[in-house]
Amino acid sequence: MSSNYLLGSVFLILILTLMLVWLSMFLLHMRDFLTGDVPFISTRKRVVSQVIDALQLSESSILYDLGCGNGSILEHAVTKIKGVRGIGIENGIIPFLLAKIYTRKLSIEVIRDNFFKTNISPATHIYVYLFTDVLGKLAPKILQECKKGTRVVSCDYEISDWVPIKIIDTTKKGDKLARKLYVYEI
Ligand SMILES: C[S@@+](CC[C@H](N)C(=O)[O-])C[C@H]1O[C@@H](n2cnc3c(N)ncnc32)[C@H](O)[C@@H]1O
Repeated sequence: MSSNYLLGSVFLILILTLMLVWLSMFLLHMRDFLTGDVPFISTRKRVVSQVIDALQLSESSILYDLGCGNGSILEHAVTKIKGVRGIGIENGIIPFLLAKIYTRKLSIEVIRDNFFKTNISPATHIYVYLFTDVLGKLAPKILQECKKGTRVVSCDYEISDWVPIKIIDTTKKGDKLARKLYVYEI
């Protein structure tokens, strides 16, 4: 009787441990599924025009927003400059769905993917609003896949080891975000 009880307790502990491990893995997966590894924060509305100007798009441009959030930068770009094609790569399910809805009537393709795994070679222009460590990992991919002359604009975070051709000050008193735009050409 007591050995049965011991066996039952061990079995129960094992089952509970397995359930706990499964639950932690599920929650971690859900966090990535919902948000991605950089939180979804849209570029401040007050700097959107400056971003579009900094990109220097023309009617044949192909603009990639890597981690496009709700697609607002792409929406402004294709609306402002006729002929521009926008490609948004977004892995967070909520921003992805928002981007799909907001951009559905425009010349914008929104792809739900990890931008580290996506082919970005067609880009003539790239916009990023990502953390420095993510940009550090993305930089070699951009250099390897994209054409010479591809223009890259980064909001708030510098790409380490790259020298910007321009830094645009977008500081606004009382706003800790959208303080600088770093413009690069590879
Ligand atoms: C700070 S938000 C910027 C959103 C948009 N670019 C804008 O400026 O309004 C960063 C976005 O990148 C997405 N993201 C982060 N890592 C990603 C990855 N590896 N692949 C695709 N999207 C990613 C996040 O889900 C988030 O929506």
